[in-house]
Amino acid sequence: KKVAILISGGGSNMVSLANSMVGDHPARPCLVLSNVPGAGGLNKASDMGIATAVVDHKDFKGDREAFEEALISAIDAHAPDIIALAGFMRILTPRFITHYAGRMLNIHPSLLPKYKGLHTHQRAIEAGDSEAGCSVHEVTAELDGGPILGQARVPILPDDTADTLAARVLPREHALYPAVLRRFVVGDITRVDL
Ligand code: GRF
Repeated sequence: KKVAILISGGGSNMVSLANSMVGDHPARPCLVLSNVPGAGGLNKASDMGIATAVVDHKDFKGDREAFEEALISAIDAHAPDIIALAGFMRILTPRFITHYAGRMLNIHPSLLPKYKGLHTHQRAIEAGDSEAGCSVHEVTAELDGGPILGQARVPILPDDTADTLAARVLPREHALYPAVLRRFVVGDITRVDL
């Protein structure tokens, strides 16, 4: 199985996913694509010998459909079986989601269904929650709303800031996403809870 990974930034989740797809793992990374030309994850992917591509949304002046057409052709040139969104910060239209229906995953830094959208750690702290975490879900037309395939939980400590909490969650993302992907590529959608 071939996995295309979409990023917008440092790509630490992409690195974890790529590093997990070795040996008897039934999948391999076939592409790392970023919507941001200088994304740090692109260099990491190249260093790992993975093909990279950039489709800069700024080249399409707000024409979301044209951007997604370019995205789809850049991705499909590598014929992936699965799309893994990993720190990809563009909202995708139903057209794109339908094209990859049933084979696109995302990782979100909250215990969904709580805190869809942005600033998830700050919101959990302000709500006085005792725990936070991350979720891997199938991507559907509802933002951060698809079936949850796995979650990892961490405690929120009294003196936590969004940054200290993010730093506690991120390593759990790096454990969760590969565990979910390993099952997903063989059609196993039993939930992973770490
Ligand atoms: C992570 O918190 C991830 O949950 C979110 O983007 C952040 C950065 O991810 N989607 P990465 O280091 O670029 O993988």
